[in-house]
Amino acid sequence: MKLLLDNYYREINYLRISITDRCNLRCRYCMPEEGVELIEHEELLTYEEILKVVEVFASNGISKVRLTGGEPLVRRGVMDLIEGIASTEGIKDLSLTTNGILLREYTTDLVRVGLRRINISLDTLRPDRFAYITRRDKFKEVWEGIEEALRHRLSPVKINIVVIKGFNDDEIKDFARLSLTYPLHVRFIEFMPVGEGNGWNEELVIPHSQVMEEIRELGELIPIRPQDNDGPAKRYYLKGGKGEIGFISPISSHICSRCNRLRLTPDGKIRTCLFSDEEIDLKGTLRGSGGKERLEEILHRALEAKPERHRIGDLRFKKCQRGMYAIGG
Ligand code: 5AD
Ligand code: SF4
Repeated sequence: MKLLLDNYYREINYLRISITDRCNLRCRYCMPEEGVELIEHEELLTYEEILKVVEVFASNGISKVRLTGGEPLVRRGVMDLIEGIASTEGIKDLSLTTNGILLREYTTDLVRVGLRRINISLDTLRPDRFAYITRRDKFKEVWEGIEEALRHRLSPVKINIVVIKGFNDDEIKDFARLSLTYPLHVRFIEFMPVGEGNGWNEELVIPHSQVMEEIRELGELIPIRPQDNDGPAKRYYLKGGKGEIGFISPISSHICSRCNRLRLTPDGKIRTCLFSDEEIDLKGTLRGSGGKERLEEILHRALEAKPERHRIGDLRFKKCQRGMYAIGG
């Protein structure tokens, strides 16, 4: 098994692939009501191209893949891609991040093609607030999707909540309580400055120390011993609970030293950091004469370019231009 190390001796074994910038929601902190200018279809990597990248990267030490969007389940034929990645030699872990709208309909197929676990983004448990935040009245679909995922024993089923002050910070305990009754992994994510128009400012970020304090009112919060594959998440469980509680705190703590990932955008660029617009083109090589060796060269170039840490909080920090919908979180 090959080991991919970057310049700071971090082991990079994880590739997050955003397969589309389209989405069936319009979350206020991510996309404007009218949508965004979409990447042209010809500019999107085809499934054959994505599989080629996965194959080459897997033979070099990438063993974990996540599909994201936009909303990955809106891209036609996605089951074939999942099946292809799940059966690629060297891929030990494949997951999907979805807003859950289509899950009720698709879970059976997802399981059939080899998906074993799933992350669902959900920022509120109140249907009326869901309609406000996402501009679509579809809470019921998402909740039923979550139930369907649990029923099919996808494991784990993770729920990701972006906590934003004045938006949903009064639901922290309600979310944490879910991990008592269901085997759900509930993960709180700090609001991040991604995409120029996303409305981020530091005052809207609720530091996780505060979130944890609130959750402790429900019971003892017990840390889970870190495992190699955790990446930047810090894991806990509430005493007596069936699930877990996790925190991803890019703003209030230095998680960059545990960063284990590269990202691939829908239009075929490698991003070395979520927060930086520095991108390395892969599509040109895929569509040009480049074979395996040229792709490997680019992979190593990306590892060398991966920054030591993000610069949020520094005076000169500038928000990246690409929105979350075209990176995939
Ligand atoms: N900060 C943190 N998470 C975000 N997401 C979208 N925009 C942001 C942001 N600015 C989340 C979505 C989804 C995932 C793809 O990224 O809620 O969970
Ligand atoms: Fe919401 Fe994610 Fe869609 Fe953006 S990409 S609108 S965060 S569901």
